[in-house]
Amino acid sequence: MAEGNVMEKIVSLCKRRGFVYQASEIYGGINGFWDYGPLGSLLKNNIRDSWWRTMVEAPPIGPDGHPIDMVGVDTSIIQNPKTWVASGHAGTFADAMVDHSVSKKRYRADHLWVVFPSSPKRFGIAVEASTIAEAQQTFRDAEDAGRYAKIYKDAQRRFGFDPKAGRTYGWNQATKLVDFERSDIYPPNGAEPGSLTEPRPFNLMLKSQIGAVDPIDAYLRPETAQGIFLNFKNIMDTTRVKIPFGVAQIGKSFRNEVTPRNFIFRSREFEQMEMEFFCHPDESRKWYEFWKAERMRWWKSLGIKEENLKLRDHEQDELSHYSKMTVDIEYKYPFTAPDFGELEGIAHRGCFDLTQHQEHSGNRLDYFDQELQLKLKAEGKGEEEVKQKSRYIPNVIEPASGLTRAVLVLLCEGYAEDATRPSPVYMKFDPKMAPIKAGIFPLVNKEGMPEVAEKLYMDLRTKFMCEYDPKQSIGKRYARMDEIGTPYCVTIDGQTLTDQTVTIRERDTLKQERVSLDKVGGYLSERLGH
Ligand code: GAP
Repeated sequence: MAEGNVMEKIVSLCKRRGFVYQASEIYGGINGFWDYGPLGSLLKNNIRDSWWRTMVEAPPIGPDGHPIDMVGVDTSIIQNPKTWVASGHAGTFADAMVDHSVSKKRYRADHLWVVFPSSPKRFGIAVEASTIAEAQQTFRDAEDAGRYAKIYKDAQRRFGFDPKAGRTYGWNQATKLVDFERSDIYPPNGAEPGSLTEPRPFNLMLKSQIGAVDPIDAYLRPETAQGIFLNFKNIMDTTRVKIPFGVAQIGKSFRNEVTPRNFIFRSREFEQMEMEFFCHPDESRKWYEFWKAERMRWWKSLGIKEENLKLRDHEQDELSHYSKMTVDIEYKYPFTAPDFGELEGIAHRGCFDLTQHQEHSGNRLDYFDQELQLKLKAEGKGEEEVKQKSRYIPNVIEPASGLTRAVLVLLCEGYAEDATRPSPVYMKFDPKMAPIKAGIFPLVNKEGMPEVAEKLYMDLRTKFMCEYDPKQSIGKRYARMDEIGTPYCVTIDGQTLTDQTVTIRERDTLKQERVSLDKVGGYLSERLGH
Protein backbone atom coordinates (compact mmCIF):
# COMPACT_ATOMS: atom_id res chain seq x y z
CA MET A 1 0.00 0.00 0.00
CA ALA A 2 1.22 3.51 -0.77
CA GLU A 3 2.49 5.89 1.91
CA GLY A 4 1.27 9.36 2.79
CA ASN A 5 -2.27 10.39 3.53
CA VAL A 6 -3.70 7.40 1.78
CA MET A 7 -7.15 7.66 3.31
CA GLU A 8 -7.73 11.12 1.84
CA LYS A 9 -6.66 9.85 -1.57
CA ILE A 10 -8.92 6.79 -1.35
CA VAL A 11 -11.91 8.88 -0.28
CA SER A 12 -11.32 11.27 -3.16
CA LEU A 13 -10.96 8.44 -5.70
CA CYS A 14 -14.17 6.86 -4.36
CA LYS A 15 -16.04 10.10 -4.97
CA ARG A 16 -14.39 10.85 -8.31
CA ARG A 17 -15.04 7.42 -9.79
CA GLY A 18 -18.39 6.58 -8.17
CA PHE A 19 -17.59 4.06 -5.45
CA VAL A 20 -18.95 5.90 -2.40
CA TYR A 21 -20.74 9.23 -2.03
CA GLN A 22 -21.72 11.10 1.09
CA ALA A 23 -25.43 10.45 1.76
CA SER A 24 -27.70 13.48 1.12
CA GLU A 25 -24.71 15.36 -0.22
CA ILE A 26 -26.76 18.06 -1.96
CA TYR A 27 -28.26 18.94 1.45
CA GLY A 28 -24.89 19.10 3.14
CA GLY A 29 -24.69 15.38 4.00
CA ILE A 30 -25.68 13.55 7.17
CA ASN A 31 -23.01 12.33 9.55
CA GLY A 32 -22.46 8.58 9.56
CA PHE A 33 -24.43 7.72 6.41
CA TRP A 34 -23.04 6.83 2.98
CA ASP A 35 -24.37 5.96 -0.46
CA TYR A 36 -22.70 3.31 -2.61
CA GLY A 37 -22.37 4.45 -6.22
CA PRO A 38 -22.39 2.34 -9.38
CA LEU A 39 -18.93 0.85 -8.75
CA GLY A 40 -19.23 0.67 -4.96
CA SER A 41 -22.45 -1.30 -5.17
CA LEU A 42 -20.88 -3.72 -7.67
CA LEU A 43 -17.88 -4.20 -5.39
CA LYS A 44 -20.13 -4.66 -2.34
CA ASN A 45 -22.28 -7.20 -4.19
CA ASN A 46 -19.21 -9.18 -5.23
CA ILE A 47 -18.10 -9.48 -1.59
CA ARG A 48 -21.66 -10.29 -0.50
CA ASP A 49 -22.03 -12.98 -3.17
CA SER A 50 -18.71 -14.59 -2.27
CA TRP A 51 -19.69 -14.73 1.43
CA TRP A 52 -23.14 -16.16 0.64
CA ARG A 53 -21.69 -18.71 -1.76
CA THR A 54 -19.09 -19.98 0.73
CA MET A 55 -21.51 -19.94 3.67
CA VAL A 56 -24.89 -21.01 2.27
CA GLU A 57 -24.57 -22.36 -1.27
CA ALA A 58 -21.34 -24.32 -0.85
CA PRO A 59 -20.55 -24.28 2.88
CA PRO A 60 -17.07 -25.31 4.03
CA ILE A 61 -16.18 -28.94 4.58
CA GLY A 62 -16.34 -29.74 8.29
CA PRO A 63 -13.81 -31.73 10.36
CA ASP A 64 -15.73 -34.95 9.52
CA GLY A 65 -15.09 -34.46 5.79
CA HIS A 66 -18.71 -33.52 4.98
CA PRO A 67 -20.07 -30.12 4.00
CA ILE A 68 -21.43 -28.22 6.97
CA ASP A 69 -25.22 -27.90 7.32
CA MET A 70 -26.17 -24.32 6.61
CA VAL A 71 -29.28 -22.36 5.65
CA GLY A 72 -29.80 -18.68 4.95
CA VAL A 73 -32.50 -16.24 6.09
CA ASP A 74 -33.47 -12.64 5.49
CA THR A 75 -35.26 -11.31 8.57
CA SER A 76 -36.93 -8.03 9.37
CA ILE A 77 -34.96 -4.96 10.42
CA ILE A 78 -37.65 -4.08 12.96
CA GLN A 79 -38.70 -6.77 15.41
CA ASN A 80 -40.95 -6.78 18.45
CA PRO A 81 -39.27 -4.39 20.93
CA LYS A 82 -39.24 -7.18 23.54
CA THR A 83 -36.47 -8.73 21.41
CA TRP A 84 -34.01 -6.08 22.51
CA VAL A 85 -34.91 -6.37 26.16
CA ALA A 86 -34.30 -10.14 26.01
CA SER A 87 -31.10 -9.80 23.96
CA GLY A 88 -29.68 -7.31 26.46
CA HIS A 89 -29.34 -4.54 23.90
CA ALA A 90 -31.96 -2.33 25.55
CA GLY A 91 -30.04 -2.44 28.82
CA THR A 92 -26.38 -2.82 28.02
CA PHE A 93 -25.69 -1.98 24.38
CA ALA A 94 -23.99 1.24 25.21
CA ASP A 95 -20.75 3.10 24.71
CA ALA A 96 -19.33 5.15 27.54
CA MET A 97 -19.38 8.73 26.36
CA VAL A 98 -17.67 11.90 27.50
CA ASP A 99 -19.06 15.38 26.88
CA HIS A 100 -17.16 18.63 26.72
CA SER A 101 -19.28 20.94 28.80
CA VAL A 102 -18.14 24.11 27.00
CA SER A 103 -18.17 23.18 23.28
CA LYS A 104 -20.93 20.51 23.74
CA LYS A 105 -18.77 18.12 21.72
CA ARG A 106 -19.23 14.44 22.53
CA TYR A 107 -16.52 11.75 22.51
CA ARG A 108 -16.42 8.01 22.94
CA ALA A 109 -14.56 7.52 26.21
CA ASP A 110 -12.40 4.71 24.82
CA HIS A 111 -11.33 7.03 21.98
CA LEU A 112 -9.90 9.67 24.27
CA TRP A 113 -6.24 9.20 24.99
CA VAL A 114 -4.72 11.26 27.72
CA VAL A 115 -1.17 12.45 27.17
CA PHE A 116 0.66 13.53 30.30
CA PRO A 117 3.44 16.10 30.40
CA SER A 118 6.64 14.73 31.89
CA SER A 119 6.89 17.40 34.52
CA PRO A 120 4.83 18.10 36.47
CA LYS A 121 3.00 14.81 35.96
CA ARG A 122 -0.30 16.19 37.12
CA PHE A 123 -1.85 17.75 34.01
CA GLY A 124 -2.82 15.74 30.95
CA ILE A 125 -4.20 16.57 27.53
CA ALA A 126 -6.91 14.50 25.89
CA VAL A 127 -6.61 13.68 22.19
CA GLU A 128 -9.25 11.88 20.17
CA ALA A 129 -8.09 8.76 18.30
CA SER A 130 -8.97 5.11 17.75
CA THR A 131 -5.50 3.74 18.46
CA ILE A 132 -2.33 4.66 20.33
CA ALA A 133 -0.55 5.27 17.00
CA GLU A 134 -3.23 7.68 15.84
CA ALA A 135 -3.22 9.42 19.24
CA GLN A 136 0.55 9.85 19.09
CA GLN A 137 0.34 11.24 15.57
CA THR A 138 -2.46 13.65 16.51
CA PHE A 139 -0.43 14.79 19.47
CA ARG A 140 2.76 15.20 17.41
CA ASP A 141 0.83 17.22 14.78
CA ALA A 142 -0.54 19.47 17.50
CA GLU A 143 2.93 19.83 19.00
CA ASP A 144 4.36 20.74 15.57
CA ALA A 145 1.62 23.32 15.19
CA GLY A 146 2.81 24.78 18.51
CA ARG A 147 -0.39 23.98 20.33
CA TYR A 148 1.20 22.03 23.17
CA ALA A 149 4.60 23.69 23.14
CA LYS A 150 5.28 23.13 26.83
CA ILE A 151 3.88 19.66 27.14
CA TYR A 152 5.94 16.54 26.61
CA LYS A 153 4.79 13.09 25.72
CA ASP A 154 5.10 10.74 28.64
CA ALA A 155 2.49 7.99 28.81
CA GLN A 156 -0.68 7.50 26.87
CA ARG A 157 -3.69 6.60 28.92
CA ARG A 158 -7.23 6.13 27.81
CA PHE A 159 -10.31 7.33 29.53
CA GLY A 160 -12.15 4.32 30.69
CA PHE A 161 -15.23 3.74 32.70
CA ASP A 162 -15.89 0.99 35.16
CA PRO A 163 -19.68 0.96 35.49
CA LYS A 164 -19.55 -1.41 38.47
CA ALA A 165 -17.15 0.70 40.50
CA GLY A 166 -18.54 3.92 38.97
CA ARG A 167 -15.03 5.26 38.59
CA THR A 168 -13.09 6.85 35.81
CA TYR A 169 -9.68 5.51 35.08
CA GLY A 170 -7.02 5.56 32.45
CA TRP A 171 -4.58 2.97 31.29
CA ASN A 172 -1.15 3.06 29.80
CA GLN A 173 0.35 0.92 27.09
CA ALA A 174 1.12 -1.83 29.57
CA THR A 175 -2.66 -1.73 30.31
CA LYS A 176 -1.87 -0.78 33.90
CA LEU A 177 -4.84 1.03 35.34
CA VAL A 178 -4.09 4.56 36.37
CA ASP A 179 -6.48 6.80 38.25
CA PHE A 180 -6.47 10.45 37.40
CA GLU A 181 -8.44 13.50 38.35
CA ARG A 182 -10.72 14.79 35.66
CA SER A 183 -10.08 18.30 36.90
CA ASP A 184 -6.47 17.89 35.72
CA ILE A 185 -7.30 16.94 32.13
CA TYR A 186 -7.41 19.44 29.26
CA PRO A 187 -10.06 18.67 26.60
CA PRO A 188 -8.95 17.97 22.99
CA ASN A 189 -10.17 21.28 21.69
CA GLY A 190 -10.11 23.70 24.58
CA ALA A 191 -8.18 25.36 27.30
CA GLU A 192 -10.25 24.67 30.40
CA PRO A 193 -8.98 21.72 32.41
CA GLY A 194 -11.75 19.73 34.03
CA SER A 195 -14.38 20.57 31.40
CA LEU A 196 -14.77 16.97 30.22
CA THR A 197 -17.60 15.16 31.98
CA GLU A 198 -17.50 11.81 33.70
CA PRO A 199 -18.06 9.00 31.11
CA ARG A 200 -21.73 8.04 30.89
CA PRO A 201 -23.37 5.11 29.09
CA PHE A 202 -25.20 6.01 25.85
CA ASN A 203 -27.48 3.45 24.19
CA LEU A 204 -26.56 2.86 20.56
CA MET A 205 -29.90 1.65 19.21
CA LEU A 206 -31.75 3.87 16.75
CA LYS A 207 -35.36 4.41 17.68
CA SER A 208 -38.41 4.65 15.47
CA GLN A 209 -42.17 4.74 15.99
CA ILE A 210 -44.60 2.24 14.50
CA GLY A 211 -48.28 2.83 13.76
CA ALA A 212 -50.41 5.95 13.49
CA VAL A 213 -52.79 5.33 16.41
CA ASP A 214 -51.08 4.76 19.77
CA PRO A 215 -47.67 4.36 18.11
CA ILE A 216 -45.17 2.10 19.82
CA ASP A 217 -41.45 2.68 20.13
CA ALA A 218 -39.42 0.27 18.04
CA TYR A 219 -35.72 -0.08 17.28
CA LEU A 220 -33.81 -0.60 14.07
CA ARG A 221 -31.76 -3.75 14.65
CA PRO A 222 -28.21 -3.10 15.87
CA GLU A 223 -27.15 -6.59 14.66
CA THR A 224 -28.72 -9.03 12.21
CA ALA A 225 -28.08 -11.92 14.62
CA GLN A 226 -31.26 -11.57 16.68
CA GLY A 227 -33.49 -12.26 13.66
CA ILE A 228 -31.76 -15.65 13.47
CA PHE A 229 -32.29 -16.49 17.16
CA LEU A 230 -35.96 -15.46 16.92
CA ASN A 231 -36.42 -17.94 14.08
CA PHE A 232 -34.51 -20.82 15.65
CA LYS A 233 -37.72 -22.81 16.27
CA ASN A 234 -39.14 -22.02 12.81
CA ILE A 235 -35.94 -23.25 11.18
CA MET A 236 -35.88 -26.41 13.28
CA ASP A 237 -39.53 -27.09 12.40
CA THR A 238 -39.34 -26.36 8.68
CA THR A 239 -35.94 -27.52 7.48
CA ARG A 240 -33.91 -30.70 7.80
CA VAL A 241 -30.91 -29.21 9.61
CA LYS A 242 -29.50 -31.05 12.62
CA ILE A 243 -26.99 -29.90 15.18
CA PRO A 244 -24.31 -28.81 14.39
CA PHE A 245 -25.61 -26.34 11.78
CA GLY A 246 -25.43 -22.69 10.85
CA VAL A 247 -27.91 -19.99 9.88
CA ALA A 248 -26.51 -17.14 7.81
CA GLN A 249 -27.86 -13.70 7.07
CA ILE A 250 -26.71 -10.56 5.27
CA GLY A 251 -28.43 -7.26 5.86
CA LYS A 252 -28.51 -3.74 7.18
CA SER A 253 -27.88 -2.86 10.81
CA PHE A 254 -28.06 0.50 12.51
CA ARG A 255 -26.20 1.98 15.45
CA ASN A 256 -26.38 5.50 16.72
CA GLU A 257 -22.59 5.62 16.89
CA VAL A 258 -21.27 8.42 19.09
CA THR A 259 -18.45 9.22 16.72
CA PRO A 260 -18.91 7.81 13.21
CA ARG A 261 -15.51 8.14 11.59
CA ASN A 262 -12.85 6.98 9.19
CA PHE A 263 -15.04 7.11 6.08
CA ILE A 264 -17.23 3.97 5.93
CA PHE A 265 -15.34 2.18 8.75
CA ARG A 266 -17.80 3.18 11.44
CA SER A 267 -21.14 4.43 10.16
CA ARG A 268 -24.62 4.61 11.61
CA GLU A 269 -26.18 2.52 8.86
CA PHE A 270 -24.10 -0.41 7.64
CA GLU A 271 -24.38 -3.96 6.39
CA GLN A 272 -23.39 -7.10 8.23
CA MET A 273 -22.71 -10.69 7.17
CA GLU A 274 -23.43 -12.85 10.19
CA MET A 275 -23.68 -16.56 10.79
CA GLU A 276 -24.92 -18.23 13.97
CA PHE A 277 -23.51 -21.73 14.31
CA PHE A 278 -25.52 -23.91 16.71
CA CYS A 279 -23.63 -26.77 18.31
CA HIS A 280 -23.49 -29.01 21.37
CA PRO A 281 -21.90 -27.16 24.32
CA ASP A 282 -19.14 -29.80 24.60
CA GLU A 283 -18.14 -29.18 20.97
CA SER A 284 -18.23 -25.38 21.07
CA ARG A 285 -14.47 -24.90 21.51
CA LYS A 286 -13.75 -27.15 18.54
CA TRP A 287 -16.12 -25.12 16.34
CA TYR A 288 -14.77 -21.82 17.64
CA GLU A 289 -11.31 -22.86 16.40
CA PHE A 290 -12.77 -24.19 13.15
CA TRP A 291 -14.50 -20.91 12.29
CA LYS A 292 -11.44 -18.85 13.22
CA ALA A 293 -9.38 -20.70 10.61
CA GLU A 294 -12.17 -20.79 8.05
CA ARG A 295 -12.89 -17.08 8.24
CA MET A 296 -9.22 -16.15 7.90
CA ARG A 297 -9.03 -18.38 4.84
CA TRP A 298 -12.02 -16.59 3.29
CA TRP A 299 -10.62 -13.10 3.80
CA LYS A 300 -7.37 -14.18 2.14
CA SER A 301 -9.40 -15.58 -0.79
CA LEU A 302 -10.56 -12.01 -1.51
CA GLY A 303 -6.97 -11.07 -2.24
CA ILE A 304 -6.08 -9.60 1.17
CA LYS A 305 -2.43 -10.11 2.01
CA GLU A 306 -1.69 -12.26 5.03
CA GLU A 307 0.54 -9.60 6.61
CA ASN A 308 -2.38 -7.15 6.66
CA LEU A 309 -4.59 -9.51 8.69
CA LYS A 310 -4.28 -10.74 12.23
CA LEU A 311 -6.27 -12.45 14.95
CA ARG A 312 -6.65 -10.72 18.32
CA ASP A 313 -8.30 -12.26 21.36
CA HIS A 314 -10.55 -9.94 23.35
CA GLU A 315 -9.51 -9.07 26.87
CA GLN A 316 -12.04 -10.10 29.50
CA ASP A 317 -13.15 -6.48 30.05
CA GLU A 318 -13.91 -5.78 26.36
CA LEU A 319 -16.20 -8.78 25.82
CA SER A 320 -19.77 -7.96 24.72
CA HIS A 321 -22.50 -8.70 27.24
CA TYR A 322 -23.37 -11.99 25.48
CA SER A 323 -19.89 -13.30 24.85
CA LYS A 324 -17.84 -15.95 26.66
CA MET A 325 -14.84 -15.37 24.42
CA THR A 326 -14.26 -13.43 21.22
CA VAL A 327 -11.48 -13.16 18.71
CA ASP A 328 -11.32 -10.32 16.21
CA ILE A 329 -9.96 -10.63 12.70
CA GLU A 330 -8.19 -7.32 12.30
CA TYR A 331 -6.92 -5.45 9.26
CA LYS A 332 -4.09 -2.95 9.00
CA TYR A 333 -6.09 0.10 7.84
CA PRO A 334 -4.16 3.19 6.70
CA PHE A 335 -5.62 5.07 9.70
CA THR A 336 -4.59 2.41 12.23
CA ALA A 337 -1.19 1.43 10.75
CA PRO A 338 1.11 0.17 12.09
CA ASP A 339 -1.72 -1.03 14.37
CA PHE A 340 -4.70 -3.06 13.23
CA GLY A 341 -8.45 -2.44 13.58
CA GLU A 342 -11.50 -4.70 13.72
CA LEU A 343 -12.89 -6.29 10.57
CA GLU A 344 -14.78 -9.29 11.94
CA GLY A 345 -15.59 -10.66 15.38
CA ILE A 346 -15.88 -14.38 16.06
CA ALA A 347 -17.78 -14.74 19.32
CA HIS A 348 -18.61 -17.68 21.51
CA ARG A 349 -22.11 -16.63 22.56
CA GLY A 350 -22.67 -19.71 24.71
CA CYS A 351 -26.41 -20.35 25.19
CA PHE A 352 -27.06 -16.70 26.12
CA ASP A 353 -29.43 -15.64 23.35
CA LEU A 354 -31.66 -18.72 23.09
CA THR A 355 -31.94 -18.89 26.89
CA GLN A 356 -32.90 -15.23 27.08
CA HIS A 357 -35.52 -15.52 24.31
CA GLN A 358 -36.89 -18.71 25.85
CA GLU A 359 -37.34 -16.96 29.19
CA HIS A 360 -38.77 -13.74 27.77
CA SER A 361 -41.07 -15.29 25.15
CA GLY A 362 -42.21 -18.35 27.10
CA ASN A 363 -41.47 -20.56 24.06
CA ARG A 364 -39.16 -23.56 24.35
CA LEU A 365 -36.01 -23.00 22.35
CA ASP A 366 -34.12 -26.10 23.34
CA TYR A 367 -33.01 -28.86 21.01
CA PHE A 368 -33.85 -32.52 21.13
CA ASP A 369 -30.76 -34.42 19.99
CA GLN A 370 -32.02 -37.76 18.73
CA GLU A 371 -28.59 -38.98 17.68
CA LEU A 372 -27.18 -38.25 21.10
CA GLN A 373 -30.15 -40.00 22.70
CA LEU A 374 -29.50 -43.17 20.70
CA LYS A 375 -25.78 -43.01 21.48
CA LEU A 376 -26.35 -42.60 25.22
CA LYS A 377 -28.88 -45.43 25.21
CA ALA A 378 -26.44 -47.66 23.36
CA GLU A 379 -23.82 -46.80 26.00
CA GLY A 380 -26.25 -48.15 28.60
CA LYS A 381 -26.89 -44.81 30.34
CA GLY A 382 -29.90 -44.61 32.67
CA GLU A 383 -33.26 -43.33 31.41
CA GLU A 384 -33.14 -40.12 33.44
CA GLU A 385 -29.60 -39.26 32.32
CA VAL A 386 -30.46 -39.93 28.66
CA LYS A 387 -33.56 -37.72 28.92
CA GLN A 388 -31.69 -34.91 30.60
CA LYS A 389 -28.62 -34.95 28.34
CA SER A 390 -30.37 -35.30 25.00
CA ARG A 391 -32.35 -32.09 25.40
CA TYR A 392 -30.26 -28.93 25.67
CA ILE A 393 -29.98 -25.32 24.59
CA PRO A 394 -27.29 -25.25 21.90
CA ASN A 395 -24.20 -23.11 22.13
CA VAL A 396 -23.55 -20.56 19.41
CA ILE A 397 -20.35 -19.64 17.61
CA GLU A 398 -20.85 -16.45 15.62
CA PRO A 399 -18.57 -15.14 12.88
CA ALA A 400 -19.90 -11.59 12.37
CA SER A 401 -18.38 -9.24 9.85
CA GLY A 402 -19.19 -5.91 8.30
CA LEU A 403 -19.96 -5.99 4.58
CA THR A 404 -19.51 -2.25 4.23
CA ARG A 405 -16.32 -2.51 6.29
CA ALA A 406 -15.15 -5.22 3.89
CA VAL A 407 -15.67 -2.76 1.03
CA LEU A 408 -13.32 -0.38 2.82
CA VAL A 409 -10.76 -3.14 3.30
CA LEU A 410 -10.78 -4.04 -0.41
CA LEU A 411 -10.46 -0.35 -1.32
CA CYS A 412 -7.47 0.03 1.03
CA GLU A 413 -5.89 -3.25 -0.08
CA GLY A 414 -6.34 -2.41 -3.76
CA TYR A 415 -5.10 1.18 -3.67
CA ALA A 416 -1.71 1.46 -5.41
CA GLU A 417 0.39 4.34 -6.72
CA ASP A 418 2.68 4.30 -9.75
CA ALA A 419 3.75 7.64 -11.19
CA THR A 420 4.89 6.01 -14.46
CA ARG A 421 1.41 4.82 -15.47
CA PRO A 422 -1.21 6.73 -17.45
CA SER A 423 -3.09 7.09 -14.18
CA PRO A 424 -0.71 7.54 -11.25
CA VAL A 425 -3.10 5.65 -8.95
CA TYR A 426 -4.80 2.37 -9.68
CA MET A 427 -6.91 -0.21 -7.89
CA LYS A 428 -5.28 -3.60 -7.70
CA PHE A 429 -8.46 -5.54 -6.84
CA ASP A 430 -8.34 -9.29 -7.00
CA PRO A 431 -9.83 -9.86 -10.50
CA LYS A 432 -12.70 -11.90 -9.01
CA MET A 433 -13.74 -8.94 -6.85
CA ALA A 434 -13.26 -6.15 -9.42
CA PRO A 435 -16.51 -4.28 -10.17
CA ILE A 436 -15.83 -4.35 -13.95
CA LYS A 437 -13.96 -7.38 -15.24
CA ALA A 438 -13.14 -6.16 -18.74
CA GLY A 439 -13.23 -2.96 -20.77
CA ILE A 440 -13.99 -3.50 -24.47
CA PHE A 441 -12.60 -0.75 -26.69
CA PRO A 442 -12.36 0.00 -30.39
CA LEU A 443 -8.96 1.72 -30.80
CA VAL A 444 -10.70 4.47 -32.77
CA ASN A 445 -14.41 5.06 -33.11
CA LYS A 446 -14.43 4.43 -36.88
CA GLU A 447 -13.02 2.24 -39.68
CA GLY A 448 -15.15 -0.79 -38.79
CA MET A 449 -13.63 -1.18 -35.31
CA PRO A 450 -16.71 -0.19 -33.24
CA GLU A 451 -18.82 -2.83 -34.98
CA VAL A 452 -16.38 -5.62 -34.07
CA ALA A 453 -15.94 -4.31 -30.52
CA GLU A 454 -19.68 -4.03 -29.97
CA LYS A 455 -20.24 -7.56 -31.20
CA LEU A 456 -17.58 -8.85 -28.78
CA TYR A 457 -19.21 -6.87 -25.98
CA MET A 458 -22.62 -8.37 -26.83
CA ASP A 459 -21.08 -11.87 -26.65
CA LEU A 460 -19.36 -11.31 -23.31
CA ARG A 461 -21.83 -9.14 -21.40
CA THR A 462 -23.97 -11.99 -20.04
CA LYS A 463 -20.93 -13.85 -18.71
CA PHE A 464 -18.78 -11.07 -17.27
CA MET A 465 -19.44 -7.55 -16.03
CA CYS A 466 -17.96 -5.69 -19.05
CA GLU A 467 -18.00 -2.10 -20.17
CA TYR A 468 -18.02 -1.00 -23.79
CA ASP A 469 -16.35 2.37 -24.25
CA PRO A 470 -15.60 3.85 -27.68
CA LYS A 471 -14.83 7.44 -26.58
CA GLN A 472 -11.64 9.40 -25.78
CA SER A 473 -8.04 8.47 -26.45
CA ILE A 474 -7.03 4.89 -25.68
CA GLY A 475 -4.60 6.19 -22.99
CA LYS A 476 -7.42 7.95 -21.16
CA ARG A 477 -9.63 4.87 -21.34
CA TYR A 478 -6.85 2.68 -19.93
CA ALA A 479 -6.22 5.21 -17.17
CA ARG A 480 -9.88 5.22 -16.16
CA MET A 481 -10.05 1.42 -16.14
CA ASP A 482 -6.89 1.29 -13.97
CA GLU A 483 -8.41 3.72 -11.50
CA ILE A 484 -11.56 1.64 -11.12
CA GLY A 485 -9.54 -1.56 -10.91
CA THR A 486 -10.60 -3.32 -14.14
CA PRO A 487 -8.16 -6.22 -14.55
CA TYR A 488 -8.41 -6.61 -18.37
CA CYS A 489 -8.85 -4.24 -21.31
CA VAL A 490 -9.61 -5.71 -24.73
CA THR A 491 -8.80 -3.47 -27.70
CA ILE A 492 -9.94 -3.94 -31.26
CA ASP A 493 -7.49 -2.29 -33.65
CA GLY A 494 -6.63 -2.22 -37.35
CA GLN A 495 -4.96 -5.61 -37.18
CA THR A 496 -8.18 -7.18 -35.83
CA LEU A 497 -9.84 -6.46 -39.15
CA THR A 498 -7.23 -8.45 -41.03
CA ASP A 499 -6.30 -11.35 -38.68
CA GLN A 500 -9.20 -11.50 -36.17
CA THR A 501 -6.94 -10.93 -33.12
CA VAL A 502 -7.25 -8.34 -30.34
CA THR A 503 -4.91 -7.03 -27.67
CA ILE A 504 -5.65 -7.85 -24.04
CA ARG A 505 -3.94 -5.54 -21.59
CA GLU A 506 -3.39 -6.79 -18.07
CA ARG A 507 -3.84 -4.09 -15.41
CA ASP A 508 -1.08 -5.05 -12.97
CA THR A 509 1.75 -6.00 -15.34
CA LEU A 510 0.68 -3.64 -18.18
CA LYS A 511 1.57 -6.49 -20.54
CA GLN A 512 -0.37 -6.67 -23.80
CA GLU A 513 -1.05 -10.01 -25.45
CA ARG A 514 -2.56 -10.71 -28.86
CA VAL A 515 -5.42 -13.16 -28.56
CA SER A 516 -7.82 -14.52 -31.15
CA LEU A 517 -11.18 -12.81 -31.08
CA ASP A 518 -12.95 -16.13 -30.52
CA LYS A 519 -10.66 -16.99 -27.56
CA VAL A 520 -11.34 -13.82 -25.51
CA GLY A 521 -14.20 -15.44 -23.54
CA GLY A 522 -12.02 -18.44 -22.64
CA TYR A 523 -9.09 -16.18 -21.72
CA LEU A 524 -11.26 -14.25 -19.26
CA SER A 525 -12.99 -17.37 -17.85
CA GLU A 526 -9.64 -18.96 -17.09
CA ARG A 527 -8.41 -15.91 -15.21
CA LEU A 528 -11.64 -15.02 -13.43
CA GLY A 529 -12.39 -18.57 -12.40
CA HIS A 530 -15.82 -18.86 -13.97
N1 GAP B 1 -23.68 -9.88 16.12
C1 GAP B 1 -22.41 -9.53 16.64
C2 GAP B 1 -22.01 -8.18 16.28
O1 GAP B 1 -22.81 -7.39 15.77
P1 GAP B 1 -19.98 -6.55 16.31
O2 GAP B 1 -18.53 -6.82 16.57
O3 GAP B 1 -20.62 -5.45 17.07
O4 GAP B 1 -20.72 -7.93 16.56
C3 GAP B 1 -19.74 -7.23 13.82
O5 GAP B 1 -20.18 -6.29 14.76
C4 GAP B 1 -19.06 -6.51 12.67
O6 GAP B 1 -19.96 -5.55 12.12
C5 GAP B 1 -17.81 -5.72 13.06
O7 GAP B 1 -16.68 -6.56 13.11
C6 GAP B 1 -17.73 -4.71 11.94
O8 GAP B 1 -17.12 -5.28 10.80
C7 GAP B 1 -19.20 -4.46 11.62
N2 GAP B 1 -19.65 -3.21 12.29
C8 GAP B 1 -20.04 -3.05 13.56
N3 GAP B 1 -20.37 -1.77 13.80
C9 GAP B 1 -20.19 -1.10 12.64
C10 GAP B 1 -20.36 0.25 12.23
N4 GAP B 1 -20.83 1.17 13.06
N5 GAP B 1 -20.07 0.59 10.95
C11 GAP B 1 -19.61 -0.35 10.07
N6 GAP B 1 -19.43 -1.64 10.41
C12 GAP B 1 -19.71 -2.02 11.67
